[in-house]
Amino acid sequence: MSVEKTNLSGIRVLDQSVEPSEKARYVADMFDAIAPRYDLLNSVLSVRLDRGWRKFAARCAALTIGDTALDVCSGTGDFARELRNRVGSSGKVTASDFSSGMLESGRAKFAADNISVVQADATNLPFPDREFDAAVVGFGLRNVAVPVKALSEMCRVVKPMGRVVCLEFSHPREDEPLSRLFKSAFGLFSKTILPTVGGLISGRPEAYTYLPESMARWKTRDEITEMMRQAGLVDIRTRDLTFGLVCVHVGVRPA
Ligand SMILES: C[S@@+](CC[C@H](N)C(=O)[O-])C[C@H]1O[C@@H](n2cnc3c(N)ncnc32)[C@H](O)[C@@H]1O
Repeated sequence: MSVEKTNLSGIRVLDQSVEPSEKARYVADMFDAIAPRYDLLNSVLSVRLDRGWRKFAARCAALTIGDTALDVCSGTGDFARELRNRVGSSGKVTASDFSSGMLESGRAKFAADNISVVQADATNLPFPDREFDAAVVGFGLRNVAVPVKALSEMCRVVKPMGRVVCLEFSHPREDEPLSRLFKSAFGLFSKTILPTVGGLISGRPEAYTYLPESMARWKTRDEITEMMRQAGLVDIRTRDLTFGLVCVHVGVRPA
């Protein structure tokens, strides 16, 4: 995909009025720009919790040795590597993303784990129907201009009874004192440390203004369940991690 620069700011791009194609261009350009520092920033800003989140979500895909799996919005490939651990060397893992910069930054990992890489938009996947045993998306859906389209595509490319798994930031719970404390601390972190450290290390400050803002404006668990239903999935379940900061949504393509 050729990526033209847009004049949008990280916040403006989240407006409902922005054309999906313009948001997609902004997001692809932003990830191309932060790609060289993406892995480092992920580990620092999540204090390495991101690894456990992806590992857990990969288990939710219910893959077995020899299966085929797709990681959509794969970025530098950390979620795809977890899929490789699930399907073993006899299985097949494909990673897709529209940012050439992100895929290039993950090149060594993709090669080491024998992961096929396809540059593609999540809303128009270049794979046949019923190709994979499972499809996953990690911290990607929130960035897709029309997320229900990406979920529909994921549903289309998995086999009947195959799973679609979405790992995404969510809205921390506040139903007991510890989770309320966590929510306040995270709120402060996302307004101060996240944009400052993210901006400094990435050299692209607006990307780390976009990140907390996109998290704050992201859909509720119920809205995501509804989107998954609209995409054709059934038996939809959600599982909170880290006080609900992150949520794993799992749906099944009907038989
Ligand atoms: C926050 S990164 C997540 C990367 C990786 N999944 C992970 O767990 O670290 C989001 C990724 O989604 C990709 N992305 C966003 N919108 C997309 C779209 N419409 N089609 C394909 N990739 C997209 C971006 O290029 C970026 O690599």
